[in-house]
Amino acid sequence: MQHLLKSTTVVFCLLLSMTLQAQTKPAKTKPKPTGDPRIEKLLAKMTLEEKIGQMTLYTTDWESTGPTIRDGYKNDIRSGNCGALFNSHTVPFTRELQRIAVEETRLKIPLLFGYDVIHGYKTIFPIPLGEAASWDLDAIERSARIAATEAAASGLHWTFAPMVDIGRDPRWGRVMEGAGEDTYLGCRIAEARVRGFQGKGIGNTDAVIACVKHYAAYGAPIGGRDYNTVDMSERFFREYYLPPYKAAVQAGAMTVMASFNDYDGVPATGNKYLLQHILRDEWAFKGFVVTDYTGINEMVKHGVVPDDKAAGELAVQAGIDMDMQGAVYQRFLAQSVKEGKVKMAQIDEAVRRILALKFQLGLFEDPYKFSNAQRAQATILSPENRAAARDVARKSMVLLKNANQVLPLNKQQKIALIGPLAETKNDLIGNWSGAGSGADCVSLLEGLQNAGMKPVAVAKGCAIDSEDQSGFKAALDAAAQADVVVLAIGERADMSGEAASRAYITVPGAQEALLTALKATGKPVVVVLMNGRPLTIPNIDRQADAILETWWSGTEAGNAIADVLSGAYNPSGKLTMSFPRTTGQIPVYYNHKSAGRPFDPNSKWTTKYIDEANAPLYAFGYGLSYTSFKYGVPTASKTAFKKGESIVISVELTNTGNVDGEEVAQLYIHDLVGSVTRPVRELKAFQKVMLRKGETKTLTFTLSDKDFSFFKQNMKFGSEPGDFEITVGGNSDTDNVVRVSLK
Ligand code: BGC
Repeated sequence: MQHLLKSTTVVFCLLLSMTLQAQTKPAKTKPKPTGDPRIEKLLAKMTLEEKIGQMTLYTTDWESTGPTIRDGYKNDIRSGNCGALFNSHTVPFTRELQRIAVEETRLKIPLLFGYDVIHGYKTIFPIPLGEAASWDLDAIERSARIAATEAAASGLHWTFAPMVDIGRDPRWGRVMEGAGEDTYLGCRIAEARVRGFQGKGIGNTDAVIACVKHYAAYGAPIGGRDYNTVDMSERFFREYYLPPYKAAVQAGAMTVMASFNDYDGVPATGNKYLLQHILRDEWAFKGFVVTDYTGINEMVKHGVVPDDKAAGELAVQAGIDMDMQGAVYQRFLAQSVKEGKVKMAQIDEAVRRILALKFQLGLFEDPYKFSNAQRAQATILSPENRAAARDVARKSMVLLKNANQVLPLNKQQKIALIGPLAETKNDLIGNWSGAGSGADCVSLLEGLQNAGMKPVAVAKGCAIDSEDQSGFKAALDAAAQADVVVLAIGERADMSGEAASRAYITVPGAQEALLTALKATGKPVVVVLMNGRPLTIPNIDRQADAILETWWSGTEAGNAIADVLSGAYNPSGKLTMSFPRTTGQIPVYYNHKSAGRPFDPNSKWTTKYIDEANAPLYAFGYGLSYTSFKYGVPTASKTAFKKGESIVISVELTNTGNVDGEEVAQLYIHDLVGSVTRPVRELKAFQKVMLRKGETKTLTFTLSDKDFSFFKQNMKFGSEPGDFEITVGGNSDTDNVVRVSLK
């Protein structure tokens, strides 16, 4: 959707690129052999322009009636000026574009097709922030697997996911694409998603290449304003923001996308420290790096280079292999090579990395192997995929409040379904919804009907973001006919995501006032929240009888929500981002430091606000169930352990309620004394377990000294001897502690 807005830039870039048709002779420089003779043979035949073509990625258009191929694109493909395309999908479209590449170009190098398959291709799963709340790594992997299978059958080779940016600021709209605020959980989810996308390996027709993004620290724009500057200490960066990218690379992600922001004063797109020192030297990354959109051109606006040509030189020298959309490489790189500002060896290196993946995909043997109508037909929106989407969706929902056990509803209760999101479909598939369509989505109304809970009355009440209250009367009339009100409120899908930062992260418009009016009827009100980020909802928390956070839960949203409301599924999700009480608390996150004057309610001179609590409304890790769980006091296999040894923490967990249920048991550590200040809590392990009512299980967690390691004062990663408190509980705010010492 956003790409339509960008299409003017595209046309401009394409026109410019078409002026560069002149070919030069194949390079004379001796390339450093890769060990793959196919690559070396091909590289030796390529002109400089053809090499730069492989380093160039453009978007195609997608108009309401379907895909379009402008002559500009065709010419760029034909002349070898463009080796990869994005937003080009579906079997016929990719086959046609691929045909031009392999039949009409001099070297017949197949195209690479990329796309933002973020939480599903056609069968849309919950937004990643929602999926993360499931704490179910198998489910998250399955979701990526299905997305890859559908996408690959539609001709795609490459997804611009997973997005692994740590998000501690809910004003930033893109927190919806990530896993939340915690580094440990973020790493595990990054790995699961890479495994899901890449399946049994690149080259299989149900796998797509993963692209870990946005490297690096894009999730920390100052003020939560998208595209803004990032500034943080290296310690903070390495400890909290960097690990998920590394985890994704080590899980096998074959490509990396450089972020728009600067890091330590240098835009990531031109940042050798990030792209060479950390990525290649420290992590031994072997794949290729692509810009985020016009990231190269944007370095001019960042003010680190005078013009696009210099930006291209900086980018290629820093380690950017592929230029997305900006056409800087295509316009200027040949000139830069001729002037000696860029070495041919640098170009060759980038082209080798790109060709290596095309070979690995098997495109030289069969360029059409991914565009397969039969496979697409069999997999896209198949009943199994929809069932998986429903399952992941219900697992991702978080029960925030449930006063007097108003939930689950029973089928005899008369329901009034009210709210601007009661019947919508487009919003439910959320932002970054790939090729998904609202038309395939199950609305909340339909979900309730399917579950045999047909509402006695339905009313919108108000729009999502208007103050107009003229619909309240109809909503109150609807409520009057019912025993219970289900109120579907939240954000519109385009209120979170890219370029959707919000200074007021409330439930917008008259929606809160609608709740107040409905509450005044005395009927119990169950709020079903649909949104892409943590919101400030203290008024809703005060007034609603129950609150179910459903995020934007995808194609099967309505059925999944009905499963939870009816009790067919007992909610088990836990927040992976704190919900602030007010924007003034932001950033608020669980793993903060103690500070020299830790919060003390009885002392003014401690770190606090004079007008608001320090704690968020709902903390990281929080979420209720229809049953209750009791944790015993954790015990340690030994009170002291040495480097190289492991220690086992055990805890008894009992389902003390009346229904079976799943619980996410979370283990946190607190390093009491370090050479540098340490957080009051750090997640180090978790388990999602199912317990029958009345059942008790003993959970065990094995930790090694690595789990107690951090960047010490000398910036070396390792552990220090000392005492640690370990807690195990159902959220980040429990206090049953065992103390252990590392000798
Ligand atoms: C976004 C990326 C996305 C790219 C291509 C950019 O604007 O920041 O996340 O992959 O567009 O659509």
